[in-house]
Amino acid sequence: MDEARPTILIPGRINAHVRQRVQSEFNCISIETADASLVQPHDRRRVRGIAAMTEISAPFIDAFDRLEIIGNFGVGYDAVDAAHAARRGVMVTYTPDVLSDEVADTTIGLVLNTLRRLPQAEAWLRSGRWLKEGAFPLTPLTLRGRTAGIFGLGRIGLAIARRLEGFGIPVHYHNRTQRADVAYPYHATLRDLAEAVDLLICVVPGGESTEKAVGAEVFAALGENGVFINVGRGTTVDEPALIKALEDETIAAAGLDVFADEPRVPRALMALDNACLLPHVASASVPTRNAMGDLLVDNLVSWFSGGAALTPVSE
Ligand code: DGY
Repeated sequence: MDEARPTILIPGRINAHVRQRVQSEFNCISIETADASLVQPHDRRRVRGIAAMTEISAPFIDAFDRLEIIGNFGVGYDAVDAAHAARRGVMVTYTPDVLSDEVADTTIGLVLNTLRRLPQAEAWLRSGRWLKEGAFPLTPLTLRGRTAGIFGLGRIGLAIARRLEGFGIPVHYHNRTQRADVAYPYHATLRDLAEAVDLLICVVPGGESTEKAVGAEVFAALGENGVFINVGRGTTVDEPALIKALEDETIAAAGLDVFADEPRVPRALMALDNACLLPHVASASVPTRNAMGDLLVDNLVSWFSGGAALTPVSE
């Protein structure tokens, strides 16, 4: 240990680029999971920063007396108890902006794959069924003629909206409050938005304020031609209600990059043909994940060189 350098704890898995940079800039302690008992008591007193893409609970925060800053790997920071960190005077940072284009691009891919069933078409070709059975069945759904509704028109939501405009798709949105800087039609409630559109895209962050915000009432409003896409957090959706809507075909299809209890995905969802399921990969390209990692580590470097955090979470 170089006593002059602050010590950063990495609990659990993290991008290799983050780990390398933390190791080169700081003293680094790595543990398998966010369990403070895995850190020797004399090391616990050294920890001044945490770099994490895992759950950081209040008891975990309290285990480190000298903790000053938590760098969250991701724009969504619902896994960190940021309110408790704020009470303890611990700074929390996150990684906005650098992933917005990647997530928006992936969302468009998910929309098209959900509507046009491209993953099933590829599986059809690879399994030899094209040769044996002829052409893949025509898809019942298309993007053409749809109206999109974005639930959560923040940085990522706006990047998705701009892309949809390029496809000639009108965009509406619902946020807690109307934005003054966009001309897209605003709906004061999520239900009103769902009624006005047939492609509902959920981009809101997780946490208590959005928990199960998308439920049976929203799916009923979306209607039987409606398509639901989620790239925000799985906890925002009442998953049993979504499964029922897909099984009963009271909505047409869903494309999901996120789930309520990742990495567990309900079997009932796995069994559905009208659902396109991705393993939380919206930002998961090497360049984008490295950019997120750089921003996380730049926050720590700036903080410990006497400056402010670059991208603090505002709690
Ligand atoms: C985030 O940054 O919150 C994303 O979900 C990671 O892909």
